[in-house]
Amino acid sequence: MKKLAIIATLILSMAVVFIGCKDKRSPGSVYMPDMAYSRAYESYAPRDSSIFTMDPNDAGHKIFYNTLPPAGTLKRGELFPFNVPNDSNGLLNLSSLVKNPLEPLTGKELEETGRLFNINCAICHGAKGEANGPLAAKVGGVKNIITASPGYSDGRLFFVMEYGQLNMGSYASQLSREQRWRIVQYIRTLESKAAPATTTPAAKTDSATVAKK
Ligand code: HEC
Repeated sequence: MKKLAIIATLILSMAVVFIGCKDKRSPGSVYMPDMAYSRAYESYAPRDSSIFTMDPNDAGHKIFYNTLPPAGTLKRGELFPFNVPNDSNGLLNLSSLVKNPLEPLTGKELEETGRLFNINCAICHGAKGEANGPLAAKVGGVKNIITASPGYSDGRLFFVMEYGQLNMGSYASQLSREQRWRIVQYIRTLESKAAPATTTPAAKTDSATVAKK
């Protein structure tokens, strides 16, 4: 009798195992449905408007969620935002108070920043910053950064990239803050290279130099 019971239990448990494995994707009968069926929120899925709201006046009645990071928060590793206002007071007085937060560039960083400068700035300003890039004549009013910038603080150079100036657009969406602060450092290296060469006549157009690089 005891033997029979053991055999019956064995057969029964094997049956349970096989029935349980019928469909690999099915969890079988579920004990805690929230665990078995994920209720994870998909980032771009529409939100249930009876629960969530994007209207700050509705906050309190519903869950306020506007997909933006809370004001004043910074991404990990991100540099502090440039809070100087976009007006002449910001440009001429306040920007000079902002110091370049980066350490001096190393060889590889310098090379990479030179690449970014050639893509974003040299098209107007020329690879050496002498206002002779291929687009300079078309855009008009492009400044020679080398002769203009020695008098400019790092903050002022950053200001120009942050907000743009006259025919020059803002670079805030094309270049990260770190890349822009690096370009400021790169401009300094162009200045020191240009210093002894001021007596030699400048090349007519810089597009050839850009192409060679
Ligand atoms: C579309 C052409 C164009 C591009 C690209 C461009 N600039 Fe300019 N840039 C100008 C013009 C035009 C001016 C002159 C603005 C003025 O007269 O105030 C200028 C002026 C400047 C000045 C001098 C500002 C001053 O107050 O005297 C600096 C510094 C400068 N640019 C840096 C850069 C850097 C760095 C980049 C790349 C991130 C860049 N520019 C890309 C057109 C350009």
